[in-house]
Amino acid sequence: MGEKKIAIIGGTGDLGFGLALRWARAGVQVIIGSRDESKAKDAATRVRETLKGHAPAESEEFSISGLENAQAAAQASVVVLAVPISAQVAVLKSIRGSLEGAILVDTTVPLAAALGGKPTRMLGVWQGSAAAQAREFVPAATPVLAAFHNVSAEALQDLSVTPECDILVCGDDEAAKQILFPLVKLIPGLRPIDAGPLEMSRIVETITAVLISVNRRYRVHHAGIRITGLDLKP
Ligand SMILES: NC(=O)c1ccc[n+]([C@@H]2O[C@H](COP(=O)([O-])OP(=O)(O)OC[C@H]3O[C@@H](n4cnc5c(N)ncnc54)[C@H](OP(=O)(O)O)[C@@H]3O)[C@@H](O)[C@H]2O)c1
Repeated sequence: MGEKKIAIIGGTGDLGFGLALRWARAGVQVIIGSRDESKAKDAATRVRETLKGHAPAESEEFSISGLENAQAAAQASVVVLAVPISAQVAVLKSIRGSLEGAILVDTTVPLAAALGGKPTRMLGVWQGSAAAQAREFVPAATPVLAAFHNVSAEALQDLSVTPECDILVCGDDEAAKQILFPLVKLIPGLRPIDAGPLEMSRIVETITAVLISVNRRYRVHHAGIRITGLDLKP
């Protein structure tokens, strides 16, 4: 897994930072992207500081750095987009020239909260889903997957917690899924599930609104989902 470089666009934010922490801890080379390079570097320093004392024996050295979004994307084979829906198109336009040879993993949930609305309501996206919208704004040769919508960023950021959640991965490129699945498995508690083509993301994205509603009712922050009835190899 050492050769895979993951850029996390918006890795200064809640979800991106949580993923950066977990992957860096697992020994993956992670580049945090931001609109502001110094903010990205600060976040990389925070990852290093947070991981002090959490190194698995076999990987004492963490590979974590910070760059401006497009520069981060240009260096990675897997580019994770972790920005609010309100910023998704602008950020994709800023990195689409840097995606050659990479796969894009879109995590965007079109929650009304991104525009000041309720966090349990979805925005309508003309293309059907945020991931389908992402598909339109990157080169046709770039495989687009949708994933990580249903995992709690708070759980990812708290290293004392195992974020129990299935990661429903949607996409039309099987080879890209085979690249992402082992990366998901590197994070304890997460299990990748092939949820079908990219158009299924329309449903997967909405599950997040349900989980936010459940979190509120049960006064928790880490609600996730599990698919039952599957006989999967570890
Ligand atoms: N939070 C969760 O638990 C969670 C779980 C699953 C999925 N998601 C989805 O993951 C995505 C990221 O969520 P988040 O909670 O991590 O978001 P966030 O913390 O609000 O923002 C993430 C990053 O996006 C960049 N950003 C914010 N506003 C921007 C703008 N107007 N233009 C360009 N970039 C902007 C910022 O990076 P820079 O300022 O450094 O550029 C920010 O640190 C969202 O689509 C969300 O729905 C979130």
